[in-house]
Amino acid sequence: MNSPVRLGLVGSGGYAQVHLSAIRTLQGSNQCRLVAVADPFADRLPETVQALRSEDVEIYPDLAPLLERDDIDAVFIATPIHLHTPQAIAALAAGKHVYLEKPPCATLGQWRHIVAAQEAANKVCVVGFQMQTSPALRFLKRQLVQGAVGKLQTVAASIRWCRMDPYYARAPWAARWMVDGQPVFDGPATNALAHVVHAAMFFAGESQDSWAEIARVRGNLKKARPIESYDTSYIEAETTSGVTVRLAFTHASAGTDAARLFCIGDAGKGQVSWDGKVTMAPRDGEQRTMAFDSLTPVSAVLDFLQAVRDPEHKPFTRVQDTLPYLQMVNGACQSSGGSSAFEQTECVAPNTPESYYQVPGLDAEFEAFRADADAVPSLVEASARPWLQPSELTPELSHGR
Ligand SMILES: NC(=O)c1ccc[n+]([C@@H]2O[C@H](COP(=O)([O-])OP(=O)(O)OC[C@H]3O[C@@H](n4cnc5c(N)ncnc54)[C@H](O)[C@@H]3O)[C@@H](O)[C@H]2O)c1
Repeated sequence: MNSPVRLGLVGSGGYAQVHLSAIRTLQGSNQCRLVAVADPFADRLPETVQALRSEDVEIYPDLAPLLERDDIDAVFIATPIHLHTPQAIAALAAGKHVYLEKPPCATLGQWRHIVAAQEAANKVCVVGFQMQTSPALRFLKRQLVQGAVGKLQTVAASIRWCRMDPYYARAPWAARWMVDGQPVFDGPATNALAHVVHAAMFFAGESQDSWAEIARVRGNLKKARPIESYDTSYIEAETTSGVTVRLAFTHASAGTDAARLFCIGDAGKGQVSWDGKVTMAPRDGEQRTMAFDSLTPVSAVLDFLQAVRDPEHKPFTRVQDTLPYLQMVNGACQSSGGSSAFEQTECVAPNTPESYYQVPGLDAEFEAFRADADAVPSLVEASARPWLQPSELTPELSHGR
């Protein structure tokens, strides 16, 4: 039996609670042991603090003393997006393996710094796109690679996710472009639906374990709500193997769709439904479905622990694998020149917790695009943005706000 991997957790509220629970589950089988937590605001959750103390877990207000401990092998970073880059780099420089929550960072430049730190430290650095551990996703990818839908032509998603005032009030970094001079770039494609962007590039990738290489990318970022960042995005890319990726997301909508991603080939279609199943529908074959559990925190932590123990184990998403994700979202930002306001918007139920924004005609366009991946929403066509090749992408979000 291997000795348990000794862990630190950075952040204790929000999604860190999911990690805490997964770590506790795996402590039961002696896979790992939580040694310390760092969070300047830990006392906002007195029950968590009390439970951690009863488990002999040290709680620090800063990351530095946690990283100084030589009895910690690996850290989980589940903090606001603008803190990811300095914290991941500090942890790697201190010789810790890192599980970094998604999105890894806001900009391509930050991504390069994290990759350089990972390479210098030669430690594991995974990004918390946890659903990549799902056997159902790997099944669909295998089918696509083996040509079950013929030549893959389009990977597409059109997702409306109504977000009301409390979503925007949940954290000081919500819907922000920058906080304390650091890029946050918070919005549907870069936070809640970042999983879909990353999975889309995975399915568009040519081999079982690869993500697609982008040949060119463009997009448009819009806002219905008076926020700093964006609440509606369209991102389009062509990959070097000739796949078109089209993703439209909005939080400015009356409706909420189950997240679905379509992989359309010239001989059939594959589909991922985040509400629980993966479907393969070859035109001339039998339809197959497989249960898909998108909430897999325990298997993601286990996969990370395995990579920490075994240098031969390729984890579910290394930080290097997230380059296409960064190129997609940064490319859309640069191509659109930052986010711009819709001309016509409507605030529904203002000054109530159920308040949300919507845009006339947008719901119908999203529905049409969901039914037919060629029916691209007009918000994109009307303001068609320049295509950018990867070499033209700037390392920073210089087109913000
Ligand atoms: N993988 C997923 O499915 C998933 C789901 C939700 C959120 N997330 C990601 O998790 C991350 C955190 O999101 P959240 O919604 O939990 O944020 P949050 O703001 O609710 O919580 C972040 C935690 O970090 C703590 N924190 C703040 N500053 C800190 C610092 N300097 N050092 C240490 N801790 C600090 C806060 O006190 C809080 O406990 C984001 O990257 C988000 O995208 C991932």
